[in-house]
Amino acid sequence: MSERLEDIAVAMVAEGQGILAADESTGTIKKRFDSISVESTEDKRRDYREMLFRADQAMKDCISGVILFEETLGQKAADGTPLVDLIKAAGAVPGIKVDKGAQALSGTSIEKVTEGLDGLRSRLAGYYEQGARFAKWRAVITITDDTPSWNCIKANAHALARYAALCQEAGIVPIVEPEVLMDGEHSAHTIDRCYEVTEWALKTQFAELYDAGVNLEGMVLKPNMIVPGQNCSSQASVDEVAEKTVQCLKACVPSLVPGIAFLSGGQSDIDATAHLNAMNASYDLPWKLTFSYGRALQAAALSAWQGKQENVEAAQAAFAHRAKMNGLAATGKWSKDMES
Ligand code: 13P
Repeated sequence: MSERLEDIAVAMVAEGQGILAADESTGTIKKRFDSISVESTEDKRRDYREMLFRADQAMKDCISGVILFEETLGQKAADGTPLVDLIKAAGAVPGIKVDKGAQALSGTSIEKVTEGLDGLRSRLAGYYEQGARFAKWRAVITITDDTPSWNCIKANAHALARYAALCQEAGIVPIVEPEVLMDGEHSAHTIDRCYEVTEWALKTQFAELYDAGVNLEGMVLKPNMIVPGQNCSSQASVDEVAEKTVQCLKACVPSLVPGIAFLSGGQSDIDATAHLNAMNASYDLPWKLTFSYGRALQAAALSAWQGKQENVEAAQAAFAHRAKMNGLAATGKWSKDMES
């Protein structure tokens, strides 16, 4: 594989493929395992992820890259093969979550700023040695009646830009993820409010990336779609989500960026697929639009697996199905009847 940032970024958004976000932190994977009553041990986490990475056909056909948590980057499969080698053998690029999580932003009540810049340069050099060729840093922006604040938007965009510049210096493609959360109780969290806040966050983000000297051709953007809050009384149609998301991205994302890979953020599996499909089917786009889903790619597999060896095949089949559906959606060729 070529080592140029631009080529790695293009490979990450290859036609009909997308990214598997398997980088749940130890706390988050515990929550996922709790939902199937499986204890989160190092071996169980390894077994689960090995099961996904060994879903051969799905990995080869539909997955361009895998985001790993630090623990997984250094882990070996049960037979001793490094998990990174399984990913590379499937033709996918290994990636690494490098942020240290979202912490309370001083001076605000509920807002967060993502930490992890201190010592990042030397950590990146180590991750490169271990085989990572792209990285992820996620910022979270919360919509309430009084938030987000400019302080939160600006602090997160600045940190993301510094992270992205450090990644590129290390030969690693940064995934830039400023996530406007869809969860929350607030009645003011309409689809139009999501549009407004996402536009604000993305405009700020690209100004910061410019100031930091980030090469736009050597990065991938990972945004939320434009959707109403989960508990908003007025929900949106698939066509409306597609239209508003495309409009917002066209207003904010330079066409030099090779690709945009969405997070699923709590959307149902089918919604996440249908929305991506509608954008690719109906619009002329200057960048590749694909998926970088965690929950919407893994939920069915996780529930089929239940932590049991005898369920591995069924879980791989469930993962393969979602990967295939989303691969089709990435080219606008999915339809609902393919789900059955
Ligand atoms: P979800 O698709 O579950 O939102 O996760 C993607 C991700 O990597 C969030 O950082």
